[in-house]
Amino acid sequence: MNRTQWNQLADTFETEVCDIAREETRDQLSRLVRAVDLSPKDSVLVDLGCGVGTFIQRFHHRFHEVTAVEFAPRIIARAKKNCTKVPRVRWLTMDIPRSAKSIGTVADLTVCMNVITSPSRAKRNSIWSAIARVTKPRSHALIVVPSLESERMVQRVSRNAPPTLPGGLVQRDDAVQKHFERAELMSTLSRAGFAPMRIARIYYPWSKEGMRKPRSGGGKGPWDWVCLARRNAGVRSRKP
Ligand SMILES: C[S@@+](CC[C@H](N)C(=O)[O-])C[C@H]1O[C@@H](n2cnc3c(N)ncnc32)[C@H](O)[C@@H]1O
Repeated sequence: MNRTQWNQLADTFETEVCDIAREETRDQLSRLVRAVDLSPKDSVLVDLGCGVGTFIQRFHHRFHEVTAVEFAPRIIARAKKNCTKVPRVRWLTMDIPRSAKSIGTVADLTVCMNVITSPSRAKRNSIWSAIARVTKPRSHALIVVPSLESERMVQRVSRNAPPTLPGGLVQRDDAVQKHFERAELMSTLSRAGFAPMRIARIYYPWSKEGMRKPRSGGGKGPWDWVCLARRNAGVRSRKP
């Protein structure tokens, strides 16, 4: 989806978009953020594709300052409103790859949740590169991406889900979204210059798939992949 399409979702973000920091059902994000050594005295959070600012609202107290990037002006306006009580936030209304230059290599934790979904590999690569560029060596990134394994599970239990397209692409309403297999996420992160530390399922409600909980076969529900990864020290990332 392009910036105009995202902008049109600003008013209905909560119903139309899976805001994982709000929807997750098992508090996985708190556990992963706790696993990172952070200090409210000097740690820096960079949230790339911050949406309406839910992650910032939940976790800003672990950081001294926050930089939030979002290219849809009406969405970032909502994030600012939601975060009026959050001190020291720098809001950048711009495309993530361009923002990396202005931000610099400052992040103790870089968050990029459900943003690397473009069907274009080149666009996804430019976001992986931006994540590597803003994250300090040996610091961390928390990445959430749609799961292809979950999509297959949803297709099995639902009669009318459309089949996946080649390359992990899935048709969602009017848009095509990239989904990742676990192994693909691991190898992509490695090529981007990160060592994956923990990778887990982050569950969200069935309603986000437009479904009720199925009687059987649905496990703990649909999920995204969440990965906490450590930026390699002094190694230039290869093209993911
Ligand atoms: C699925 S939403 C996720 C928002 C938030 N990270 C969350 O988990 O709720 C994706 C967000 O990323 C923004 N976005 C997508 N591509 C972007 C890009 N290239 N540069 C900046 N923002 C982008 C969209 O406008 C949208 O708000």
